[in-house]
Amino acid sequence: VEALKIGLLGLGTVGTATAGILLSPESRHPLLKEIEIAKVGVKTLDKRRAVEFADGVLTTDLEAIVTDPDLDIVVELIGGLEPARSLILKAISHQKHVVTANKAVISRYGEEIYRAAAEAGVYVLIEAAVGGGIPIIRPLQQSLSVNRIDSILGIINGTTNFILTKMATEGSDFSEVLTEAQELGYAEADPSADVDGYDAADKITILATLAFGEQVSLEQVSCEGIRQVSAVDIQYAERLGFEIKLLAIAQREQSGLQVRVHPTLVPKEHPLANIDGVNNAILVEGDPIGQVMFYGPGAGGGATASAVVSDLMNIAAMLKVSQAVNPLLKIPQHPRRELVPI
Ligand code: HSE
Repeated sequence: VEALKIGLLGLGTVGTATAGILLSPESRHPLLKEIEIAKVGVKTLDKRRAVEFADGVLTTDLEAIVTDPDLDIVVELIGGLEPARSLILKAISHQKHVVTANKAVISRYGEEIYRAAAEAGVYVLIEAAVGGGIPIIRPLQQSLSVNRIDSILGIINGTTNFILTKMATEGSDFSEVLTEAQELGYAEADPSADVDGYDAADKITILATLAFGEQVSLEQVSCEGIRQVSAVDIQYAERLGFEIKLLAIAQREQSGLQVRVHPTLVPKEHPLANIDGVNNAILVEGDPIGQVMFYGPGAGGGATASAVVSDLMNIAAMLKVSQAVNPLLKIPQHPRRELVPI
């Protein structure tokens, strides 16, 4: 079988972990052997890397990757709005499937990107954009799709949960814990995206759009971060039987769909109260299913790479199926469920 050729953009925490998995597929799913990293786009070639690539794989020419006729899939892991958005759109217009972990781009430009993908007949998969390694995108798009979703309550920023947990258990100082979260590779390049709630706002925008079947815009989301939360607040809350958690909430109310992010007093017996450290949890309530909770590592290289590579394997599997139907069909002509605009 001819391998699918990947162009990977970005070799930060998640990019490095993703490359690590793809370069050592032994003892994992056999489909992995059909996915090959052909090009890796980086800012500079002079840096020491944790992963070694064959000669000619690394390049600083990202444009050349997204337009390269030999590549099948572009994996965008550079983050931020630009040039990520333009590179994704260019890759799509050059008939490449796209896998991205970029919640900032998808929450703002998801509609435009999915429309372009539907026109080009390519897949855009975003499992890694929300909840790190937790499967949440595909469950909402597929496994739970029959349900009418009533609410989503989530701890969906690992960095702030890590900070709040340490403040509660060790009485640590905010900035000290933030540095630790940065060193562990959890925080965004600009950690104010975590601390001020914007990262969680991006993610709840994506989840709400998927769950409620209507395009939610980021401007609809009211957002407050954890800068104002002090160790004393946490101690008082504790005495009264609460944990303070940064919750992202999307729910149907009489006035319409409400979407917001803010520090919340969570009763100790609530399922979200004991989510500690970098873990994320998403509690989905729907009809007829009732409550379902998704829980796991919400940030970090390995966990997020697990979601990235699962998207790659999904594309590989979907292409195999469509090739089995029509062997001449390299790019599926009829995008499926994944291409529904989020
Ligand atoms: N900075 C993000 C977090 C990374 O802390 O959750 C995962 O999206």
